[in-house]
Amino acid sequence: MPSTRCALVVLISGSGSNLQAIIDAQKNPDFPAEISAVISNKTGVKGLERASKAGIATEIVSHRDYPNREIYDAELARVIDRYNPCLVILAGFMRILTDDFVNRYAGRMLNIHPSLLPKYKGLNTHQQAIDAGDREHGATVHFVTPDLDSGPLIIQARVAVLEDDTADALAARVLEKEHIIYPRAISQVASGHVTLANEVVSLNGEPLSGPQQL
Ligand code: GAR
Repeated sequence: MPSTRCALVVLISGSGSNLQAIIDAQKNPDFPAEISAVISNKTGVKGLERASKAGIATEIVSHRDYPNREIYDAELARVIDRYNPCLVILAGFMRILTDDFVNRYAGRMLNIHPSLLPKYKGLNTHQQAIDAGDREHGATVHFVTPDLDSGPLIIQARVAVLEDDTADALAARVLEKEHIIYPRAISQVASGHVTLANEVVSLNGEPLSGPQQL
């Protein structure tokens, strides 16, 4: 019987622990989405191994093989579109994306970022939270818009920043929460419970005044 689940293409650059969380979630037949392919811009990363082990198609589109961002993103889109996904999932895909690429998947591309957005876009978010003396840090799933790590927020998870915390220890605690909120957000969007219209996220038809909190 053909799958009626929402087809996902997941983009990774590294370990793929968030990818693994989605692979684990889709084992539940009630999960409304299923990964069609995993694409990495880097060879030899653990995420590719995780995908192969789960019997999922993998593709490598290395940024090193293309002269500029526009040409790379066009090729990436060509590979993605072969799978005709209903959602494109950025899971530790460490590339800045061109506006054309983002606009092509407007409303159907999600990202997870390890901070309580709009705080700390970009890299080294955990150290930034520690350096700022924040008592709380966390992760956010959001729809992707052309600005880096921006776009309408769907769900956040918070963790306490401990005294004498290190960036690594804090990152590990945040990652555990990422593995809960990313499959949840994907499920909500794939099932149509969460929607986006005019930059506003709604849950079951009700506009959210802020991101859901785990
Ligand atoms: C995760 O912490 C994710 O939030 C972050 O990269 C890590 C990937 O880990 N993404 C970003 O920083 C995006 N700006 P994983 O490969 O184990 O899922």
